[in-house]
Amino acid sequence: MKQAVFSLLVSGAYAFPWVAEQPGVDSSLFKARRAYKRQQTGEGAGGPATCPFNANHVAAAPVTSQYPYNNAQNGLPGDGKGGFQVPADGDTAHGFIAPGPNDIRGPCPGLNAAANHNFLAHDGITTFNELVDAQQNVYNVGYDLALLLAVLGLTTTDGDIVTEKLSIGCDATTRTSVNPTLTGSEPGLDGHNKFESDTSLTRNDFFTHNGDDFTFNGTLFGFMDDTCQSNFDREGLSLYRNQRWHQSQVENPNFFFGPLTLLLYGAASFLYELMPSGTHNYAPDLATISSFFGAEKQSDGTWAFVDEKIPSNWTNRVSPYSGLDVNVEIVTMYLENPVLFGGNTADGHFDTLDFGAIKNGTISADISQAETACLLYQLTTSSIPSSLNGVLTPTVDALAFALKKLGPEFSNLGCPLALTK
Ligand code: HEM
Ligand SMILES: *[C@@H]1O[C@H](CO)[C@@H](O)[C@H](O)[C@H]1NC(C)=O
Ligand SMILES: *[C@@H]1O[C@H](CO)[C@@H](O)[C@H](O)[C@H]1NC(C)=O
Ligand SMILES: *[C@@H]1O[C@H](CO)[C@@H](O)[C@H](O)[C@H]1NC(C)=O
Repeated sequence: MKQAVFSLLVSGAYAFPWVAEQPGVDSSLFKARRAYKRQQTGEGAGGPATCPFNANHVAAAPVTSQYPYNNAQNGLPGDGKGGFQVPADGDTAHGFIAPGPNDIRGPCPGLNAAANHNFLAHDGITTFNELVDAQQNVYNVGYDLALLLAVLGLTTTDGDIVTEKLSIGCDATTRTSVNPTLTGSEPGLDGHNKFESDTSLTRNDFFTHNGDDFTFNGTLFGFMDDTCQSNFDREGLSLYRNQRWHQSQVENPNFFFGPLTLLLYGAASFLYELMPSGTHNYAPDLATISSFFGAEKQSDGTWAFVDEKIPSNWTNRVSPYSGLDVNVEIVTMYLENPVLFGGNTADGHFDTLDFGAIKNGTISADISQAETACLLYQLTTSSIPSSLNGVLTPTVDALAFALKKLGPEFSNLGCPLALTK
């Protein structure tokens, strides 16, 4: 405990008020007192008390020889050839089934949709292998990127690296953890300042909405649709992400935009790279995007939530969306409307931070190709200081897990490995 506080003070992170609420931090050391506990301590929206429990856990429906999709199984590389319809005609095992009250859904529309179609376990308690398979079979995500995202989902401490289980939403530690006493709470993808961060496209900031950083917000979907003018391309989403940054900076005293928010640019690219359908000429149009987000326009013009669904007659992208592809999109989208990495401080300033390609709170336009190529890999395999992602527990095991999962696929990339032992 003492050591954790010490390293936070040394790193200068005491400036960020939310740090005071980290488990293990003696908040009497900090002037700022916050109204809401972070859910990692087991309270609030997304916490274990209100997390649904489905006693009947059924694993994802696997691909079959009749309906092979990308033939991705058991966490191994599939065919990497898209352009096919999902779900296939006649494949009832992957038809849409609305989540029931006992099923967990979270901040990721891509995974929620996959669970609603049984490409992930329908109760929302999924595994590393299900995540790697589903991303390839449904969206034709490249094997390298599928691995990176699945590792990030588990190792940002949202999941369990022994059981390799992850809740795609709220804290289901009793079902994901190998041993809750040893692992502590595993908040799932709702966990804040991990994979989930401020300035989401359609989800609230954690601290401005009592910890609800995962529910679809129709007002925000409407803002996004207005800014993008129903064409969810890179240009529109870059502008919208910039607007969301400014909204958070003004409205959220605990606003924090750390290295992991690079992932939010990646997620935004999924709207025009992974969601568009061959039957709509691969246009990121409103009909397609609203179906994946579960957004339905009402007669008064507002947007209601109706569950994430793969659009009818949907065919996925033809070439796999690789790790390099997404890194290029992240950097390009960021540079079109750059904002500062850092956070609001207790005394009302915005402090910038440094991490990897982020220097003095920004990514330079002359970032090298090599640095770009390694962006997410570095995020996954480096020890991000606790002050920059909210994780206080030692991450040595998590890094070992990342290297074990990624090593074979990435060993020749030439990216710097910050920690290997
Ligand atoms: C293992 C794989 C994945 C994991 C662990 C994951 C996790 C997450 C998490 C935690 C968020 C919330 C980020 C935030 O604060 O906004 C998110 C957002 C998002 N994800 Fe995923 N995701 C994965 C794969 C995918 C795929 C394959 C798609 C394909 C469509 C997708 C689409 C999105 C979109 C569009 C958002 C932004 C939602 C919003 O901001 O409103 N994700 N994802
Ligand atoms: C939805 O987002 C808007 C804009 O940020 C916010 O004012 C509103 O409180 C949110 N609504 C809910 C129900 O969280
Ligand atoms: C899907 O395709 C079928 C056959 O081509 C067509 O009849 C139907 O209208 C399409 N549905 C949608 C929603 O595009
Ligand atoms: C960051 O800012 C410091 C202080 O203003 C300056 O000395 C340094 O050169 C800057 N670094 C970069 C990479 O711009």
